[in-house]
Amino acid sequence: MSAVDHKKLITPEQLVPIRPKPVEVWDVERIRKHFPVLSQMVNGKPLVYLDNAASSQVPQMVIERGMQYLKYEHSNIHRGVHYLSMKATNAYEGAREKVKRFINARDVKECIFVRGATEGINLVMHGYGRKFINAGDEIIISAMEHHANIVPWQILCEEKQARLRVIPMNDAGELLLDEYDALLNEKTKFLAVTHVSNALGTVNPVREIIDRAHKYGVPVLIDVAQWAPHMAIDVQDLDADFYVLSGHKMFAPTGSGILYGKQHLLEKMNPFQSGGDMIKSVTFEKTTYADLPNKFEAGTPAIASQIGLGAAIDYLNIIGREKAAEYEHELLEYATARLSAIEGVRIVGTAREKLGVLSFVIEDIHPHDIGTILDQQGIAVRAGHHCAQPVMKRLNVPATARASCSFYNTKQEADALSEAIEKVIEVFV
Ligand SMILES: Cc1ncc(COP(=O)(O)O)c(C=O)c1O
Repeated sequence: MSAVDHKKLITPEQLVPIRPKPVEVWDVERIRKHFPVLSQMVNGKPLVYLDNAASSQVPQMVIERGMQYLKYEHSNIHRGVHYLSMKATNAYEGAREKVKRFINARDVKECIFVRGATEGINLVMHGYGRKFINAGDEIIISAMEHHANIVPWQILCEEKQARLRVIPMNDAGELLLDEYDALLNEKTKFLAVTHVSNALGTVNPVREIIDRAHKYGVPVLIDVAQWAPHMAIDVQDLDADFYVLSGHKMFAPTGSGILYGKQHLLEKMNPFQSGGDMIKSVTFEKTTYADLPNKFEAGTPAIASQIGLGAAIDYLNIIGREKAAEYEHELLEYATARLSAIEGVRIVGTAREKLGVLSFVIEDIHPHDIGTILDQQGIAVRAGHHCAQPVMKRLNVPATARASCSFYNTKQEADALSEAIEKVIEVFV
């Protein structure tokens, strides 16, 4: 056995990750340096990353936290008595504590780690829906949901002979609240609505929506996948019963996410997945379930990813969410004005209140062709139905091109986008 050079071993104190400095004035060039991926060339041009609604980029601080875990702390959680297992458990549960403060939950028991918004919605459909929705009941969603907030409820309705009802929207992509009122009745047993449309950027008046549902005693799930990367969340203030979000859309690795649920509802729900770590005791005759939140976290979770989500929350707290939001608002207005001024471009989704997303079409040019030509200029946008086919159908477009921004994007990038779009039009006309 070779001798260990103790001088070369590191101590836990040496594992403190580099932290960016708090931001006084929004200095986007400084912020961009936090994101290594942004400094590369794509197809010979500086990368212009405008696909943030699909997945945001990861800052160095989060990458380092993940590396630190993988290099020096990796172990399985909860069941170990040894040093590394306790270290990993502390980091994982520490991330949950950060989540609790980030969303202002009453207790960590209300914060369930999930792989993303999709898994969170499916958990509620299985755990709550399968237990409490019955034949003849009605579930309300909206016309602008991501497929993740349509398909699970559709499956449930088919299974239970319940009815799925949809709050319609106008041509601008705004929900019609009078029609919503007409849908609510004593048969309504659940409501699931997105805070922000991923296809259009519309911000929905969720406080109003939640309050009206609660008047009928209807539990509400709010999908904050597109809200969380931009704005603060206070689950107690809005008072919805469930919230879901995806970590990879808010500067954390894929495989991370949160389902928030009010404790009294989570307590009476059935487990989602079953197996190790979600039990109190198992015999061949009967299994009793672990207390919250473990009851909903069967098997080995995405430990590194959820620790990364904790680090992403630290990052957002350091840079300051309010300043980021102000900057993003100005940037979206600027980009909207630039694109609207190009002849032949039509913005899809013109709601009065929008966040982060700029969907558009160009007459006679398929969005996939737009996306491909923009990529040749190093510009990443998304083209297609954005997992929101009913939105496309309602607004009478087969697909859109979608630019979605974050606080690290710049006005120069919006200029580059609009110049590249002008080139697309030149190529096709
Ligand atoms: C509004 C909304 N809800 C749900 C999802 C699904 O998120 P995930 O794929 O991370 O589970 C998305 C993803 O784009 C989304 O935009």
